[in-house]
Amino acid sequence: MTQDELKTLVGQAALAYVVPGEIVGVGTGSTVNKFIDALDTMKDRIAGAVSSSEASTARLKALGIPVFDCNAVGEIAVYIDGADEIDGHGHMIKGGGAALTREKIVAAQSRRFVCIADESKLVERLGAFPLPVEVIPMAARRILRQFGALGGQATLRLKDGQPLVTDNGQHILDVRGLAIDDPLTFESGVNQWPGVVTVGVFAHQKAQLCLLGTRQGVQTLNFEA
Ligand code: 5RP
Repeated sequence: MTQDELKTLVGQAALAYVVPGEIVGVGTGSTVNKFIDALDTMKDRIAGAVSSSEASTARLKALGIPVFDCNAVGEIAVYIDGADEIDGHGHMIKGGGAALTREKIVAAQSRRFVCIADESKLVERLGAFPLPVEVIPMAARRILRQFGALGGQATLRLKDGQPLVTDNGQHILDVRGLAIDDPLTFESGVNQWPGVVTVGVFAHQKAQLCLLGTRQGVQTLNFEA
């Protein structure tokens, strides 16, 4: 099976976790796009969606699925999203698609985070994937130096030769060379740096479940305490 087929497999498997009659939280990325495609088959049985990006919102609306603002709904039963890396505790690196801030917001409002990922995303330790950090532009250079002091090499993410601008009007740094041994402490620490909007370590908002697409089928990893 190709990586794309594994993404389709987990996107479809995630339907089993969508609660009929409720609003579903929807993440961002190529794996989530497979989930949105699958959601078309049960769109008449959900109340709608809350989305973590303009891209997912457009895709959901194209299927006729109502998309609500976070402030218009209460607790969300389940949030379905991908990851760039996930470890054996459900801690993740996210933000490869630049949607990390809204992803963390929707995850924080959800009872359960179900991560959908192909097997290449499962790691022993977070940090091989360059860590995305959304920053206020005027703080970018100092934060870049702060990561340097931690042994990381941070670069400003570009799009078409210009700094990428997120859905929130901010910039993204990608940090290479970090070994994140203690994701909870790392996330808490970087969150304190002035100018950091969101760090792409999801340890406080970790996944409760991961549907991992493997060549042997979908493996369910349970991280619920
Ligand atoms: C977007 C994300 C995505 O979940 C992550 O980048 C994985 O994407 P894909 O499913 O395309 O591999 O965090 O900000």
